[in-house]
Amino acid sequence: MRFISSPTEVTAASKIARLAGKRVGFVPTMGALHQGHLSLVRAASAQSDLVIASIFVNPTQFGPNEDFAKYPRTLEQDSSLLAAEGVDVLFSPSVGDIYPQDARTWVVVEGMSERLDGRSRPGHFRGVTTVVAKLFNIVQPDVAFFGQKDAAQAAILRKMARDLHFHLQIVVGPTVREPDGLAMSSRNVYLSPDQRRQATVLYRLLSRIQALVDQGERRSAVLISSGTRVIAEEPEVRLDYLEIVDRDTLQPLADISEGALVAVAAYVGPTRLIDNLPLAPRGQEATLNR
Ligand code: PAJ
Repeated sequence: MRFISSPTEVTAASKIARLAGKRVGFVPTMGALHQGHLSLVRAASAQSDLVIASIFVNPTQFGPNEDFAKYPRTLEQDSSLLAAEGVDVLFSPSVGDIYPQDARTWVVVEGMSERLDGRSRPGHFRGVTTVVAKLFNIVQPDVAFFGQKDAAQAAILRKMARDLHFHLQIVVGPTVREPDGLAMSSRNVYLSPDQRRQATVLYRLLSRIQALVDQGERRSAVLISSGTRVIAEEPEVRLDYLEIVDRDTLQPLADISEGALVAVAAYVGPTRLIDNLPLAPRGQEATLNR
């Protein structure tokens, strides 16, 4: 595996591969890698000839009182994991290379960036779309891989790619979970053993909603109130939002018959966790994977 920190060098590596007729797959991450990230790397290996993974803890997607400074940074371990998966290039740029001091340009997907996490974390999605647009331009992939774990992020990035005419395909891989259902996240390391147990309430809530949907319930209000009752079983978990929205536009839906996304965010102690359940249209089988 080649380790590249220079944007120009990674652009050149990608261009050489594409000129040789290779399909370039790209997996952007912030590191502290777990099986969720690695599932995307495996999908990339299966669907492309040259796999580029990036590790960049993007300062602009963190709010002023958020965990940018303490976000886990485990570059050495991450690079062994990526090398073991057969990744060809690990791109890990500096903040200065991505955000030159005189940079003034932002990418915002209006009407979506302020929804869900964007409401609780103002500016978060602006940071995500801006860095991913930069990374797309630098890496110039044919296909880029994102996780369903961050469903709103994936929907916003799909919209950005269409609106800005990026010539690439976006693939969204399923959420990878711990055996007890907790969605894998780099932030799970913040949880104490007691909080780790409480955190499974997110999965219990989604499972409850899934069960009601399986029984034929279609009204969002009913699903949301039963989900809210599940959260109340863990008095130390504070709900941020529980919403049922359109999977593409992120606008609230009163009824799930045409398909929907159930999205939840909650604080377990100081740690904010998110999870979601995509619901297929018209009672087709839903997909809370385990
Ligand atoms: P990060 O949180 O490191 O996640 C990188 C990719 O891994 C994202 O596409 C995310 O959805 C996916 N992922 C995380 N946990 C997952 C899980 N349990 N199962 C499946 N996929 C999972 O998301 C970001 O970084 C950043 O916002 C980024 C897109 C890199 C821009 O800075």
